[in-house]
Order: sequence, then C-alpha cells, then structure tokens
Amino acid sequence: MNKVTISSNISECVTKAVESVSYDKLFLLMDKTTEELCYPVVADVPCLSGATRIVIGATDTHKNLDTLARVWEELGNKGGTRHSLMVNLGGGMVTDLGGFAAGTFKRGIKYVNIPTTLLSMVDASVGGKTGINFNGLKNEVGVFNSPQDVIIDTEFLKTLNHENICSGYAEMLKHGLISDEKNYLELLSFDLDNVDYAALATMVGKSVEIKEKVVEEDPFEKGIRKALNLGHTAGHAFESWALSRKPCLHGYAVAWGLICELYLSHVKTSFPIDKMRQTVTFVKENYGKLPVTCDDYEELYKYMTHDKKNTSGMINFTLLGGVGDIRINQTADKKEIFEMLDFYREC
Ligand code: GLY
Repeated sequence: MNKVTISSNISECVTKAVESVSYDKLFLLMDKTTEELCYPVVADVPCLSGATRIVIGATDTHKNLDTLARVWEELGNKGGTRHSLMVNLGGGMVTDLGGFAAGTFKRGIKYVNIPTTLLSMVDASVGGKTGINFNGLKNEVGVFNSPQDVIIDTEFLKTLNHENICSGYAEMLKHGLISDEKNYLELLSFDLDNVDYAALATMVGKSVEIKEKVVEEDPFEKGIRKALNLGHTAGHAFESWALSRKPCLHGYAVAWGLICELYLSHVKTSFPIDKMRQTVTFVKENYGKLPVTCDDYEELYKYMTHDKKNTSGMINFTLLGGVGDIRINQTADKKEIFEMLDFYREC
C-alpha cells in the first residue's frame, strides 16, 4: 500500500520520500502546464534539482500510446535502469500515464506522485490505478501499480481554475456519499464560488482518508472498491458523449452521473429523496447540465454497455441505500436507464 502524506512543507516531504528509496537515477515527469505553474514550487528541492526532466503535452488528449512511448524512450535514452525512480508532478493525466510508464519500463521502476490538481489529489494519484486512453476509450489500457509515496500539498490548488476545483470536488462529493451524513452535509455547504482554501485543505485530507480506507480493503477492485465507482457508470457515458461534441472535465461528468445514480438508488434501493434533492440542487448550481435530449439516449446507453465495470453483459452500477450504505453490483435494464435519463433532463 502506498503512503499518502498531507504536506505542509513540500521540500521536506519530497526529500523524505525520495531519500527513502535507493535509486541510481531520478526522473521528473511533468506536463507543459505543470512545468510552468508547479515546477517552480519544487525546483529548489535539492534532490529534484538534479533530476532528469521529461515534459509531455498537457491535457487528456496526450494520455495516449504515443506519449507513453516517448516517456519510455526518454527513460531508456537518458540512462534509466530498473533501479531508477520517477517522480510524477501533475494532474491525473501525468500520474496515470507516469504510473503506467513506471510500472512497465524494465518491468517496473518505483515512482512517487505529487498531484497538483484537486482531482488527482483526492482520486487519481491514490490507489494505484494507472493507464492511458486507447482505441477511443478512456483508461482502456493500464495496470494496478501503487506509488511508493503520494505527497499532497494543497498550496498547488491556489493556481487551479474554478472549473478544475469543481471537477475534483465531484469526487469529494462521491467520497462523502459513501462515508457518513455529517461529512456529506459539510461538503454540500461548501461555497465553490468563494473557495476557503484552509477549509478545503482539511476536507481534502478527510476525502483522501476515505479513499485510502476503501483501497486498503480491496486494492484490486474485487468488491468494496467498487463503491468508488458511484456516479461513474452514467458519468463515463456522459463524458464519452461529450468527447465527440464539446469535451467536459471528468468531475463534471461524475457530478451529472451522481444525479442519475442517486435517482436510480432512490428507485431501486430506497435512497432518501431529501438527500437526493439536496444533491441535485448542489450539482445544478455548480456544474450546470449537459444538453442531452431523448435522441441521445441510445448512444448514452451504448456507452454504458461498453463500460469495463460490466460483467456477463449486465450494466453494473454502484448504488446507495442511504449516505454510507453502499450497494455494489447493482444493475438496471434499458427502461430503467432511460427513466433515469428522463429524470436527469427534467430535474
Ligand atoms: N477512481 C476510482 C478508483 O480508484 O477506484
């Protein structure tokens, strides 16, 4: 299991994490955005200043085989061996692709994640899921490969734009929904338009703890880790639908997916209507809505049937009987899914 540190002194935490590994050569992977905005924060950390830097294109469009091949090439051409160490500095795209590159180069080298977006702090960088998009499908190829350490420093969030704060916050809402009511109500009362960074830092810590606990219990998603898929069956369908029109951030799709799946939870597993309504209001106010019509239902349904979480041809959902009452391996038929989409459009 990887170690997650909530940092108040990035220099000390990075030094400790890097020095705890015995390595022959250190690589630092970033994308063009994190090189510009986040590298200056760690550039003076003595152990990182001598690292060989690899810079890849920013955004999810670069999370592909070409970029991965370039990272493998640079690792090989610049003296990487099986005993090298890689530090990934960036959002989910960098930590997912970097973790996969590290897990496969010379059959696997050690790596450390320094997530710089809210989404990667509370989700992508923790738990060892790594990979790339392939064949038009998100995260189609990858491996479970946990980092040695994850260093979370919420100072990075101060340069993050509003949309990316909201995107990461959707995963925090999901963690709240699978934990307890007190935590969840606190999340619903947070003002995303006027971010209180100190309060957010505390909430990030709690959110990461929830994810860590689930992953520790079920690292390879055989059972309870499926709780973390709440909102993601419908969410991934929305994300794929948007991809060929106007791409949306992952967390926005998850927030819309939560509306759908709480509706399904209400219908199928008696999730309380008041909590569902509170969530719908919060999501509508902060995330708006995707302009799907009933003509899009077949396409959305098709995406759900291709979801890698499915088994035996049945669409797999994680639902809730209440906040913290997790019901994994639920399914719904086409009629129920279309009704869910009706609710999403009309709510
Ligand atoms: N993002 C969900 C998981 O790590 O399982």
